Amino acid sequence: MSKIWLRDIKQHLGEIVTLQGWVFNKRGSKNIQFIELRDGTLVLQGIVTLEDSGQATWDVAETLTQETSLELVGKVVEHPKSISGCELIIHEIRPIQITDEYPITKKEHGPDFLMKRRHLWLRSRKQRAILQIRNEIIHALRQYFYERQYVLTDSPILTGTIGEEGSTLFSTEYFDEGQAFLAQTGQLYLEATAAALGKVYCFGPTFRAEKSKTRRHLTEFWMLEAEVAFADNDENMRIQEEMFQFVIAHVIKTCPLQLKTLGRKVADLEKCLRPFKRISYDEAVDYLHSQGSAIVRGKDMGAEDEVLLTENYDVPVFVMNYPREAKAFYMKNHPENEDRVLCSDLLAPGYGELIGASQREDDLEVLEKKIVDFGLNPESFEWYLDLRRYGTYVHSGFGIGLERTVSFITGVRHIRECIPFPRMMTHLEP
Ligand code: 4AD
Ligand code: MG
Repeated sequence: MSKIWLRDIKQHLGEIVTLQGWVFNKRGSKNIQFIELRDGTLVLQGIVTLEDSGQATWDVAETLTQETSLELVGKVVEHPKSISGCELIIHEIRPIQITDEYPITKKEHGPDFLMKRRHLWLRSRKQRAILQIRNEIIHALRQYFYERQYVLTDSPILTGTIGEEGSTLFSTEYFDEGQAFLAQTGQLYLEATAAALGKVYCFGPTFRAEKSKTRRHLTEFWMLEAEVAFADNDENMRIQEEMFQFVIAHVIKTCPLQLKTLGRKVADLEKCLRPFKRISYDEAVDYLHSQGSAIVRGKDMGAEDEVLLTENYDVPVFVMNYPREAKAFYMKNHPENEDRVLCSDLLAPGYGELIGASQREDDLEVLEKKIVDFGLNPESFEWYLDLRRYGTYVHSGFGIGLERTVSFITGVRHIRECIPFPRMMTHLEP
């Protein structure tokens, strides 16, 4: 017989079944013991009484500890109040391993304690809900692009070209070729595949040797990047808005229980289904100054400014046309103002940047000069410049950070809980 997962337990109402899993919780009194069985898909309450289970099973139940692995045999009966709609009248308990002193108990543990035990922490209710939502976000993103005929063209992780900027690179020796860098972005390669296939995306891990210990930075994070031929910056924003709303709607539909577990209000997420705001960088700076921020015009916006700016909105905001020097070399100069570029950051309300986007510089000479001005080595960009030599074209794209998106959608403050095994400046194991 194939394994019965608790998610599907309702289909077995009235049957005697054998279930596997772990003891999530146990409580009881003189006459009744409740064993919560967790199998990863759901938690099911099992009931032990002398009358239904017998003395031998009662005695085994008393030895069970949190996270004991076991098999339960029993009858599935209706229990309308529970999430599964069922509970189990236990007939027999077959412990696989009685767990001795599981380190994560019901009392509050600090983040350091939990991070060191990340491999076990993942079993707790909140962490499971976060990872289930992460799974649905990934699914929705892939579905969005697949349904619109984008081609997935994965980009390399070992690269010889600097994708964003030189200060946050991880590098390693690479045979006789010198240094290889771990990819900060797949964008430059996507620009090549967009010229081959029109609408493309990539989705994979990216690496940044960020020396910042913030709640929004990982050194290894997942990013979905899309690139579209003959799309300008406006079309680029339209696509991002549609994609983001597709993801939000999918999570609202598929994860009501998880959102509830995490205390995230669905009504707040639903607000993101309304049209997004659009303001220019210069308007944003004016507003920030009026609110007492010390941001210097011409500099990038810091995390605090992003929160200050978005606090009063309940929809995401596109901040457009940042200063050229604050952004990456590949962005197209604004046709009316050389000091600004055709780009946008999508800031989530009360959170900050989730997406970085731009129209790409498509003029060979301008791009050659920008590479030099940004202190990069033109030689390693020869192949990239070919894209401006052989049929250059207007094109735009963006990158959405997966863990930040998970953080915003789940309402979980710190990004370290939004990936199974986070990598940060001070954290490499587990
Ligand atoms: O704004 P970024 O640096 O843009 C790019 O990498 C472009 N090449 C994307 C493109 O146009 N194809 O990064 C994009 C997103 C950010 O908005 C943020 O959500 C996330 O990636 N991100 C990080 N997430 C976690 N930890 C970090 N250290 C991150 N750095 C960027
Ligand atoms: Mg950015």
